[in-house]
Amino acid sequence: MENPPAPATGSDPRDSVRTRVFVVGAGIMGSGIAAQSALAGCAVTLEDVSEELARRGLENARRALDSAVRRGRVSPASRDEALANIDTAIGLRRADAAQIVIEAAPENLELKRAIFAELEGAAHPSAILATNTSSLPVTSIAAGLRDPGRVVGLHFFNPVLQMDLVEVIPGLRTRPEVTEAVHAFARTLGKTVVASRDSPGFVTTRALAVLVNEAAWMLYEGTASRDDIDTAYKLGFHHPMGPFELTDLVGLDTALAILDVLWDGFRDSRYRACPLLRSMVAAGKLGRKTGEGFYAYPREAPPPGPAP
Ligand SMILES: NC(=O)c1ccc[n+]([C@@H]2O[C@H](COP(=O)([O-])OP(=O)(O)OC[C@H]3O[C@@H](n4cnc5c(N)ncnc54)[C@H](O)[C@@H]3O)[C@@H](O)[C@H]2O)c1
Repeated sequence: MENPPAPATGSDPRDSVRTRVFVVGAGIMGSGIAAQSALAGCAVTLEDVSEELARRGLENARRALDSAVRRGRVSPASRDEALANIDTAIGLRRADAAQIVIEAAPENLELKRAIFAELEGAAHPSAILATNTSSLPVTSIAAGLRDPGRVVGLHFFNPVLQMDLVEVIPGLRTRPEVTEAVHAFARTLGKTVVASRDSPGFVTTRALAVLVNEAAWMLYEGTASRDDIDTAYKLGFHHPMGPFELTDLVGLDTALAILDVLWDGFRDSRYRACPLLRSMVAAGKLGRKTGEGFYAYPREAPPPGPAP
């Protein structure tokens, strides 16, 4: 990455040569991005709004790395090294040492704009500010900043360690060298990069939204059952997951938010969200993260023993 800021004042002498990555938001994606960057040898700080959330993010990064070891994709030694490369933070103050900041906070334009406004003061002026948004206009996230030229979309896929694709989306004001630098960064993580214009939903999210929404409409209209629709997509099109399994993984709230962004961007009835999705979100059936979506995910029973 070009124009590195002054070396971090941290205690690890390797920090002067490693790429320093600051990840904002230690949720599903932030923890995966942290694990992937750490595996590539970057010094990673994983940040969230509370100690508990940052700690949980680190635990999820550890779980993702453990699962990569079980699948034979990562050696135990590389996992241990990667874990040693990640620390946690609360608040954006420590973003000042990073060469690249990757924001993975919830998919909400106002929230992301507030985070970027704060980052503009907190991060080093030469640092790249990337957003992992899956649907919001990168240009709008950067609008109003003193230097919108350093903001770029860097869209990872879930689960990050297993998915080889990254979408890079320059906003209208993004400087070409910033776009080139994140292409190079994504390649150092072992990802294949596709480039997209800053159009609503980019390439992948737009395609996915229609696929998921159409499945929801078919279920809503009684065309076929949940299981038959999932089976049809898997066996008919070689998809590794059915649309309902996938929506449960992504989160129904995220899927609905994406459809609403596409609707706002295009005003085209193709993106009219199925009412079933909307009512399930209202009922808190958000998928795996709440224990129920299109499928149920029973929590593990507590171990037997005396009550506390
Ligand atoms: N879930 C997916 O499959 C997926 C895939 C690709 C991209 N994305 C995108 O990645 C981003 C994050 O999605 P996610 O699924 O990881 O969400 P998530 O809800 O799992 O995690 C978001 C995290 O951000 C934290 N957060 C909230 N406000 C914050 C703030 N002001 N500063 C720092 N952290 C804050 C939350 O506490 C939470 O831990 C979204 O933009 C989403 O669209 C999600």
